Amino acid sequence: MREISTVGVIGLGTMGAGIVEVFARGGLQVVGVETTQEYAEHGRAILQGSTDRAVAKGRLDEAGQAEILGRITISTELGDLKDCDLVVEAVPEVLSLKHEVFGKLDDIVDAGAVLASNTSSLSITEIAAPTRHPERVLGLHFFNPAPVLKLVEVITTLRTDAAVRDAVVAVADKLGKKPVVVGDRAGFVANYLLFGYFTSALRMLEHGHVSREDLDTAMRVGAGLPMGPCTLMDLVGLDVCDHIGEVIYAHTRSQMHAPSPMLGRMVTSGLLGRKSGRGFYTYARPGSGQVVEDDLTPVATEPAEAGSVGVVGTGDLASELVDRLEEGGYAVVHVSDAEDSEELASLAGADVVIEAQDLDTDVDDLEELELDLEADEDLDDLLPGRDLDDLFAELGEITGPDTVLATVNSAAAVALGAVSGRPGRSLVLRVHAPTGNGQVVEIGRTSATEDDAVQSMRELVARLGAEPVVCRDRAGLVVDALLVPHLNDAVRMLDEGYASVADIDTALQHGLGYPTGPFAMIDQIGADEVLAVCEELASGSSGLPRDSVEASPLLVEHVILDRPFIS
Ligand SMILES: NC(=O)c1ccc[n+]([C@@H]2O[C@H](COP(=O)([O-])OP(=O)(O)OC[C@H]3O[C@@H](n4cnc5c(N)ncnc54)[C@H](O)[C@@H]3O)[C@@H](O)[C@H]2O)c1
Repeated sequence: MREISTVGVIGLGTMGAGIVEVFARGGLQVVGVETTQEYAEHGRAILQGSTDRAVAKGRLDEAGQAEILGRITISTELGDLKDCDLVVEAVPEVLSLKHEVFGKLDDIVDAGAVLASNTSSLSITEIAAPTRHPERVLGLHFFNPAPVLKLVEVITTLRTDAAVRDAVVAVADKLGKKPVVVGDRAGFVANYLLFGYFTSALRMLEHGHVSREDLDTAMRVGAGLPMGPCTLMDLVGLDVCDHIGEVIYAHTRSQMHAPSPMLGRMVTSGLLGRKSGRGFYTYARPGSGQVVEDDLTPVATEPAEAGSVGVVGTGDLASELVDRLEEGGYAVVHVSDAEDSEELASLAGADVVIEAQDLDTDVDDLEELELDLEADEDLDDLLPGRDLDDLFAELGEITGPDTVLATVNSAAAVALGAVSGRPGRSLVLRVHAPTGNGQVVEIGRTSATEDDAVQSMRELVARLGAEPVVCRDRAGLVVDALLVPHLNDAVRMLDEGYASVADIDTALQHGLGYPTGPFAMIDQIGADEVLAVCEELASGSSGLPRDSVEASPLLVEHVILDRPFIS
């Protein structure tokens, strides 16, 4: 296989112009081809603008910019690709167009040249099948923006020559990219996993489970991802999302990937995201990333005076809550013994009561407790803390009718509402560990919870220095209900033998900008915890399709063997 030193790129749109820049920065000669002079000039302007920005930011000097641009020739003649060792096609996502381009290339380049497609969703096998030499065709899938994101998926078909694959991987390595070699399957690695998650996020939004802003905050801040799903889909383009989603669904026929009717309606109505000026959000103008207010933008209200808050329980979380509430200006009443009715009576005047007992019991303790249990004893009596039903029934009697009652322990807001006799004032809270983007506290409400109770909890969370996310109280709320099935899906992909741990982690970290790959996340959270959430989602009322929450058998294996994914 000859060395790749001259590269052709067909189509100088969003992706093609970026791909030209990547190769030229890597020291290769590049020939970019467009349909008309006007498009060619547009492509040249993208390259000029992108390298100008790099100079302005001090990442490139002017001499370096001149060298890069000097390696690029732009043409409107496919014939100018005749001396290329590799040609990457980045024309629009239409199979007939790709066939036309590859058909012409067969007559232009010599037999030793490699032909690659940057398609996101079409089958490389179908693109390659009618070409004269399918053994030299593969997928070379860059991510947007190509000069920034390091991932390139190298997709081989059953016919792709191993030497062709190796030559392309070698050139990707030389460019400083992170190549991942996989077979031809809808969505490849990154989009396949991303779209399972997108579909679940769309379902939550469509069902009114959470607002677009809170959904984005949950995943950006709570899960630490670079942006929330609504912002990301608007950036990718809702038409593109709808199309890729359909392709993946056609491949899996899984409920997990079933297309969102809401997304289809948005696309039909011309709401395509940033590029059309409106998608999930409204933008200052088409193409702008600046979000402007619209009918769905939450109305800013004057925060109420910080009132008095009761915190019930001891342990790290209770102490932290007490400290942060005091710092936030609240008058805090701390009840350390939830069994003590006299202490509990001091909560009579509180505006909000948060139950934060340390109820953690590990399985070994439970087994020991059960073994010790006398016939007339109740296991509940031996567990740490006071039973929540019992406690909330008492709180319902002690506190005033407007007091907001909340728990940080996993209980259902609806059940607490029923036992306390305050369905309009009961909430559940889920305090997440901080991520690189901040900290989220989820606030789970029921259909009966009154808006002012939710609003006062929003304000309280904000005064704690965390970001509130309000959602319906369903299993997993938002962060766990979206993140955990996404991680489980990565394990399923591994179990299916499609890609390795390293490939999947590389794909999500370097293609989607995740802080770490999904397997690094699972090892950090603990496979047992991920499995426990899957089981909770599968048995509870998460509203997510069964096939998205059913734990991968490989995840179960890792839990039983207590074996991390990354050794
Ligand atoms: N946009 C993304 O985020 C993204 C990410 C990864 C992969 N892709 C894939 O990359 C490909 C291109 O997508 P894009 O977003 O850059 O599209 P685009 O519409 O921005 O650019 C396509 C360019 O191809 C040109 N073109 C059309 N027919 C041509 C021909 N016969 N010869 C030469 N040029 C031709 C068009 O004039 C246009 O400038 C698609 O296959 C897409 O699925 C897109």
